[in-house]
Amino acid sequence: MSRIFKVYISCQQLGTQMPKSQPYRVIQIGFGSLGRHIASSILKRENLELVSVVDANPELIDKTLGEVLQDCTDCIIKITDDLSSALNSLEADVAIVATSSSLEIVVPIIEECLGSGVNVISICEELSFPYQKKLDLAESINSIAMQNGKTVIGTGINPGYLMDLLPIVLTAPCQSVKTIYVTRHMNSSHRRASFQKKIGTGMTNDEFRQNIDEGKITGHVGLVESIQMIDAALNLGLDEVVELPPEAIIAEKEVTNSFTTIKEGDVLGLKSVGLGVKNGEDIITLDFQAYAEATPQYDEVIIDGIPRIHQRIEGGVQGDLGTIGMILNLIPIVVKESPGLKTMKDIPVPRNTMRFWKE
Ligand SMILES: NC(=O)c1ccc[n+]([C@@H]2O[C@H](COP(=O)([O-])OP(=O)(O)OC[C@H]3O[C@@H](n4cnc5c(N)ncnc54)[C@H](OP(=O)(O)O)[C@@H]3O)[C@@H](O)[C@H]2O)c1
Repeated sequence: MSRIFKVYISCQQLGTQMPKSQPYRVIQIGFGSLGRHIASSILKRENLELVSVVDANPELIDKTLGEVLQDCTDCIIKITDDLSSALNSLEADVAIVATSSSLEIVVPIIEECLGSGVNVISICEELSFPYQKKLDLAESINSIAMQNGKTVIGTGINPGYLMDLLPIVLTAPCQSVKTIYVTRHMNSSHRRASFQKKIGTGMTNDEFRQNIDEGKITGHVGLVESIQMIDAALNLGLDEVVELPPEAIIAEKEVTNSFTTIKEGDVLGLKSVGLGVKNGEDIITLDFQAYAEATPQYDEVIIDGIPRIHQRIEGGVQGDLGTIGMILNLIPIVVKESPGLKTMKDIPVPRNTMRFWKE
């Protein structure tokens, strides 16, 4: 009877060096609801090293992360408002920017990072596909990135994945595509407080309408960018991209969650619809619904094409966890990417990169 021996020889036994593996050095800019979760997730991931945290909030300055994060009590990194010192002294590979949805607000931070030779990943929704709404800013960011040989990208769960990249990738086996319909149906009670606030949770219907009209709450930002990214990726040549005014979803009975108590007749959350239109036909429909106690939760893409594709993620992807995952996983990809302003459709297939190390 033949016997097979498997022989395992370590690098040391062979007299060779173990491959050198260094973590990616990361600066977190913006230490609000998302920024805190991103920072604590970086601290837990072996292939990433958090080197600084920058925030504008005076109440946070000079506090250690250990004082603010319940799950990282031994972390002695101090929060600073001095971005330029952090950029110039810490040799970071990437800065994560989680401060605002508005590209105008985020641009000075992005350009300072790029100018200091640091790549940027931001969850600013308007950065996810800025070429139509904010072309001047997109060109300025791209030019600074190119001059400095660095990469910048806007990402997140949505925009950045569920309602744009995912449907784009799902068309890969289609011989033809007629229409794309994407639905996100989410229980917003599971989301961070700042998200529940921006979708109007707990307001009266009149307050909701007034706050939306005056721009005091944004609702969901990014449907237009997602449609424009799909259009650009599939060369659809849409005539028009339209976002309908958000509609409040009203409570039929009182609901209490960790954020607030919503009285009967008040606002649970909202429904927002974006349309990509060609020759009078809705080629892309994005149907975003986020409200307290929504059930069932799911993310769904239906592609009317040959073959027809119907993909449904039961339970949906938890948005805050998913956003953090998108950012962490992009770090090794962005560091290797060619310079310039990129969107999620431009880079190699995103994936989990927890086992990727700096060479
Ligand atoms: N793409 C996606 O899928 C996705 C997913 C989740 C969130 N987002 C977006 O990400 C952004 C952050 O979300 P969040 O819930 O964490 O917001 P947040 O709780 O309001 O936190 C933002 C933090 O950034 C700080 N900040 C503002 N301007 C700054 C600056 N110039 N330099 C340094 N820090 C600054 C703020 O300080 P102050 O409080 O003093 O202003 C605050 O601490 C939001 O716009 C949200 O819509 C996108």
